Amino acid sequence: MKITVIGAGYVGLVTASCFADLGNEVICVEKIESKIEKLRKGISPIYEPGLDIILKRNIENKRISFTLNMTEGINFSDIIFFCVGTPQGDDGKADLSQIEEASRQIAENLTSYKLIIEKSTVPVNTHQWIKKTILRYAKNNVEFDVASNPEFLREGSAIKDFLEPDRIVVGTESNKARNLFRELYKPFTDQDRILIFTTPATAELIKHASNSFLSLKISYINMVSDLCEKVGADVSMVAEGMGLDKRIGRSFLNAGIGYGGSCFPKDVKAFIKMAKDNGVDFSILEESEKVNKNRRVKFIEKIENILWINKDKNITIWGLSFKPNTDDIREAPSIDIVKQLNSAGANLRLYDPEAAENFKNIFPESDKLRYFSDMYGALEDSDALIILTEWEHFISANLEKIKNTMKLPIIIDGRNIFDESLVESYGFEYYSIGR
Ligand SMILES: NC(=O)c1ccc[n+]([C@@H]2O[C@H](COP(=O)([O-])OP(=O)(O)OC[C@H]3O[C@@H](n4cnc5c(N)ncnc54)[C@H](O)[C@@H]3O)[C@@H](O)[C@H]2O)c1
Repeated sequence: MKITVIGAGYVGLVTASCFADLGNEVICVEKIESKIEKLRKGISPIYEPGLDIILKRNIENKRISFTLNMTEGINFSDIIFFCVGTPQGDDGKADLSQIEEASRQIAENLTSYKLIIEKSTVPVNTHQWIKKTILRYAKNNVEFDVASNPEFLREGSAIKDFLEPDRIVVGTESNKARNLFRELYKPFTDQDRILIFTTPATAELIKHASNSFLSLKISYINMVSDLCEKVGADVSMVAEGMGLDKRIGRSFLNAGIGYGGSCFPKDVKAFIKMAKDNGVDFSILEESEKVNKNRRVKFIEKIENILWINKDKNITIWGLSFKPNTDDIREAPSIDIVKQLNSAGANLRLYDPEAAENFKNIFPESDKLRYFSDMYGALEDSDALIILTEWEHFISANLEKIKNTMKLPIIIDGRNIFDESLVESYGFEYYSIGR
């Protein structure tokens, strides 16, 4: 099939590359020229494991192309995915200006039937606004459908998540659209992947309700971890014990410094606002948000309780991205933690395998804040190692080498990546969360 994807960000690039890899012909429209230049050379502007390989393969096969020209993109196919950003706007609402802009652009170029698909995460009933906008701006009276097909991929495992989804949710009221979706997702349903059809409003809500629920799970285990610290229990074992219950499940029960990223913080906020605007008191989510924000403050307090004075201490930080296997630092806990330690006068030595370049845009290198390309190099003369992201490199790190490189053997682990007794057997003072 022929497919148009608007927006070459984390979701758009994965969507476009994976559909191309399944044998479709895909064009990806992006408005940032530098991204298009890189993509045409087969270079991904973002770090996502496996994406480079799929991109190159499909550029060579001529199954994927990139353009700045919306008219070219719209004329290319009847199936158009919106993968543009929906960042947090004023008072917590989702900022839908990129969706509105793309809708107007579609309207101006509408000359034949189009199926317009929201893959971006949008508040319930956004599909009605898209429809209204296209009707308002369209120059011709042409048939079109607007459907919702929210994306559930996780950065860091996006290719696998896209190709092996737990479920594909489609919200549409049109038979023509339903048939196009059936054909588009046939390679998935042939592999027994579940395709659910529902109304657009329900599909839109499924996405926000899912993300908000997962954020609740994270905040819940974080509160349990605080209790564990007080009473001498181990939150990792509590999570194991709880997770074995099929009704609960083990995932998203990792205690730590809380969630960040481009989705959970803004989606939870938007869901709260959406509920409020519709007269529904969803204060349980406000509480969860408060718990999450407080994790960062508590972690700083933990560091102070351990190091006493942060001023002029050499502190190494491993991990800047909001989660492993991505270069994305949007709303990452590291931003608040680095800011606090920096203003306390610590000498910061930062290392991340992929996210350092993005981090430099917020925290440029200075005398008190240095970036390292080698994780062990970052530890030299260090008074403490702080772990903020659970990259595999860190989990499998050489503890002997860490100990021999640092000035003092102190590890403060915000992600519980090490086995306590093992680390302590090397002579470290080891502090983690809820254990
Ligand atoms: N990142 C994730 O893990 C994830 C997962 C599921 C859903 N989502 C949702 O998917 C959407 C996209 O997220 P993302 O992380 O890929 O965002 P992003 O900011 O990385 O990418 C959006 C891209 O769209 C481009 N764009 C915006 N308007 C355009 C236009 N009119 N024409 C051409 N290009 C345009 C932007 O320049 C940008 O490159 C959001 O709604 C997000 O909530 C994200």
